[in-house]
Amino acid sequence: MKHLLGIDDLGAEGIGEVLRLADSFLEVTRRDIPKVPALRGKTVVSMFYEDSTRTRLSFETAAKRLSADTMTFSAGSSSLRKGESLLDTVRTVEAMGIDAIVVRHKSSGVPQRIAGWIDASIINAGDGWHEHPTQALLDVYTLRRRLGALEGVRIWIVGDVLHSRVARSGIQAFARMGCEVTVCGPPTLIPRGVEALGCNVSWSLDGIGEADVIYALRMQNERMTGSFVPSLREYAARYQIDGRRLRPNQLLMHPGPVNRGVELAGEVVDSPQALIVQQVESGVVVRMAVLYELLAGGGPAREASRFTQEDPTRVEPQPA
Ligand code: CP
Repeated sequence: MKHLLGIDDLGAEGIGEVLRLADSFLEVTRRDIPKVPALRGKTVVSMFYEDSTRTRLSFETAAKRLSADTMTFSAGSSSLRKGESLLDTVRTVEAMGIDAIVVRHKSSGVPQRIAGWIDASIINAGDGWHEHPTQALLDVYTLRRRLGALEGVRIWIVGDVLHSRVARSGIQAFARMGCEVTVCGPPTLIPRGVEALGCNVSWSLDGIGEADVIYALRMQNERMTGSFVPSLREYAARYQIDGRRLRPNQLLMHPGPVNRGVELAGEVVDSPQALIVQQVESGVVVRMAVLYELLAGGGPAREASRFTQEDPTRVEPQPA
């Protein structure tokens, strides 16, 4: 695999391979010096045209823990402001000798477009409403560490599904792991035909008691061009997950950043049922796995054995 542009690039087997690699990197991150030489000599560029805390920092941490060199492109202080095009910008960055670009952009399809222009590996760190594949991988990894096998696990994804790249990647990844996925939100915020990705649809929280996992989404105000709900207050009254709606046996996930008091009440964000911090922790090892998979070369089996050779202290991945 050269690029990671969407969940389709992986399939169930590819997802399993990333999870296995992430398990081995988890052991690395627990060492006194959490670093291996696996990507020494490689250069990874972060190119974020949209704000990010978790994704950008965890990719940069992941690259450093694999001993790759890192470069950070800041759109706000670059020659984009002088009118340079996206094409000329990525060709300029490529000319510096790089191996991968981690790209986030407000427009769907930009990572695919860049992948067609240059030779470096492209990793989609979120494009418009389209996909956020590493978010889905870290979510699957987090849940699998908590629950073990995911076959038959019922997940309700609640909120602004329409504008959510997290939901599009998450539905596909969870469905491939055998989960039963339901998306829930006001009809204005559920995309028509979303069932084709492998989920059920509910317009109310009435059946949410059946869920093993509630995955709440942020209202993506930055992508809304009109009014999709009468008011945030009314939205919260019908769809906010609070201490009444989250049952004691249910787990809670959210990709972050959370808008406390809108999609989630503060009491559930801080409850032991919330996996939100664990999701961030998983982000580093899952992104190490993705960078390794793309940049260490060869097929999955060969890559894993190379890693073993380079790092003889590595423990074997845990069985799924
Ligand atoms: N979940 C997520 O993509 O967070 P950031 O926008 O902070 O990267």
